[in-house]
Amino acid sequence: MSKKYYSSLTKKYIMSFLGLFLMTFLLVHLSINLLLIVDDSRELFNEAAHFMGTNIFIQVFQWVLFSAFAVHILVGVILQIQNWMARPKGYARRVGAEESIFSRYMIYTGAIIFIFLVIHLADFFANKMIGDVPEITSGNLAGMEDMGLLVMEKFKMGGYVLFYVIIFLFLGFHLDHAFQSAFQSLGLNHPKYTPFIKGLGHFMAIVLTVGFISIPIIIYFFK
Ligand code: HEM
Repeated sequence: MSKKYYSSLTKKYIMSFLGLFLMTFLLVHLSINLLLIVDDSRELFNEAAHFMGTNIFIQVFQWVLFSAFAVHILVGVILQIQNWMARPKGYARRVGAEESIFSRYMIYTGAIIFIFLVIHLADFFANKMIGDVPEITSGNLAGMEDMGLLVMEKFKMGGYVLFYVIIFLFLGFHLDHAFQSAFQSLGLNHPKYTPFIKGLGHFMAIVLTVGFISIPIIIYFFK
């Protein structure tokens, strides 16, 4: 086995570990965001946002998270370029092969999610950092940022809601393939368990997609 083979295998391991880690973040992020739907006073959401924004472990974790996103994107792009370069001219697509699905769609859905992340972080994370968020006026969180109100204001704009819904569909598509592919890259495939892992991957993708989409839709139409 060549050095090049091992180097590409290492990259795939990195992609898989980080991808699964980022999916775990998404589950936590979704759970916190759903607090906005279940609690109209926004107190639960704001308390969670405040905790996330002040707890020292979460602060460190945030930089681990940003690094994980950065490395996942960078290694994904490198693997993709290597994949394109390795493809012989006039290459006939091996339909059904993992590699070809990866090269056909994952890089594009990934690029869309990256553009979304830049806009999303500028809207919420950066606004919070520069202090451009409405303040909570009463209760025990008075004086803190009302992140919940900021989200509600954004999701009262039709165009913004449409943008988020479309992006979340692409996210779902990316995640649906990512989960099973990660297990495969880690060598965790077995005739007995692979169908279960595939099913779990579809389930996770559906839960995350429907969960995330429900937030802007419910806020726009019902809040
Ligand atoms: C309806 C869906 C979503 C809403 C309402 C939402 C809302 C927010 C808010 C309010 C923050 C700032 C949190 C704070 O610092 O207090 C944030 C941060 C962030 N969001 Fe989202 N988000 C959504 C979906 C997503 C998705 C799908 C991704 C990833 C693909 C994502 C990635 C991030 C990241 C990386 C941060 C910065 C880390 C953090 O503060 O936790 N978000 N989001």
